[in-house]
Amino acid sequence: MSHLISPSILSCDFANIQRDVELLNSSKADWLHIDIMDGVFVPNISFGFPVLEVIKKHAKKPLDVHLMITNPDQYIEDFHNCGAEILTVHYEACTHLHRTIELIKSKGMKASVALNSHTNVMVLEDLINDIDMVLIMSVNPGFGGQKFINNSLLKVKQTKDLIQRKSSKAIIEVDGGVNNKNAPSLIKSGADVLVAGSHVFNSKDPVQTIVDLKSV
Ligand code: DX5
Ligand code: ZN
Repeated sequence: MSHLISPSILSCDFANIQRDVELLNSSKADWLHIDIMDGVFVPNISFGFPVLEVIKKHAKKPLDVHLMITNPDQYIEDFHNCGAEILTVHYEACTHLHRTIELIKSKGMKASVALNSHTNVMVLEDLINDIDMVLIMSVNPGFGGQKFINNSLLKVKQTKDLIQRKSSKAIIEVDGGVNNKNAPSLIKSGADVLVAGSHVFNSKDPVQTIVDLKSV
């Protein structure tokens, strides 16, 4: 498949959220990336259900929801009710990850697991056939606009190798510091979905920036 682009709403203008969601509707973006931060798992708080409902109301593309929260099991049904189609939980936040994954899938959502930069890809060896996506964090989660961690390229390759070795159908998403300079090597390394926040929303022409990322 050709790679997908999932612009991160975290970098949009929250005073004009409807306008920015409509801008993404009219663009070549494939998904909308939604970052949920609880101020506990990560040192920042983003937004919660009322904002997600507004996004859902206007969005015409699948919502790719990235939970940076502890105890995600508690809210899986709520995120489903708010329209999440792809739900990512962090490996580092889940004690019973298999149970969490099964819960996400039982609600009809795609189940995805995110790995922080320090977490070895091999922790997913026994779960890779149960999940739909692996999210490789290429910054420390919590903020938009950070610098890409170069070792993430190696992690994407290792994830791709694991997926192929286990004949898994999982795809790979990369999140954090993605731009037009590192996108080609990310795709070459095996990334299927690129998240981009500040690179898209801080550009002069976000719609064209998405076209450029899409045509890498
Ligand atoms: C970081 C978030 C990212 C963030 C990406 O914790 O998970 O999705 O919005 O923003 P950029 O592309 O600016 O690094
Ligand atoms: Zn994210």
